[in-house]
Amino acid sequence: MHNINRLRQFIVEFTQLVAHHGDAEATMLEQGGELLKTLVAQDDWLPEICAQPHPQYYQQYLIHCDPLERFSMVSFVWGPGQKTPVHNHQTWGLIGMLRGAETCRRYSLGTPGEAMIVTSTDSLCPGQIDCVSPNVGDIHEVANAFTDRVSISVHIYGANIGAVSREVFDPLTSTIKSFVSGYSNSQTPNLWDRSTIVRQQIASTPTT
Ligand SMILES: [Fe+2]
Repeated sequence: MHNINRLRQFIVEFTQLVAHHGDAEATMLEQGGELLKTLVAQDDWLPEICAQPHPQYYQQYLIHCDPLERFSMVSFVWGPGQKTPVHNHQTWGLIGMLRGAETCRRYSLGTPGEAMIVTSTDSLCPGQIDCVSPNVGDIHEVANAFTDRVSISVHIYGANIGAVSREVFDPLTSTIKSFVSGYSNSQTPNLWDRSTIVRQQIASTPTT
């Protein structure tokens, strides 16, 4: 059974955080990272509709978008061996590993016509978090670390990430192309049916 309350509470707390510190990237990465780390320490809350792999393409499911587009939350579902192109984000982002593992190769922009430079290669395991932004390093390529199983990570970005004009890069030539990712889903999970909780509260209230 999915603990949708845990997800809803995370979104409530992240909304409060972005309301106070949305313009302070370092604070969002630090305090938002703590919230995300707590969330991905448990794997009982991700709705099934946001955990479905595709045989050919990695999936980017929108879980929630702030109404003012101050942040968005997505799940990345990696089929075996799937990976992104080299890309950037144009905003801050937090990544939390939920299931399986992924590898992240970071790049710096090269001279046009020449290969891009790999600055680091890391792997992310369940419970661990990472971050990106134009200030801390924004260009990377992410892949499922496994060739025989699905991996899932959860990302929070400082914008409605599916609607942000971003860039993909050819690592061999440093050629840049613009892209807008969109989302893999047309419907988001219902986080707001609290009727079970309310009924329980009513049932436990003593009658006079
Ligand atoms: Fe990314």
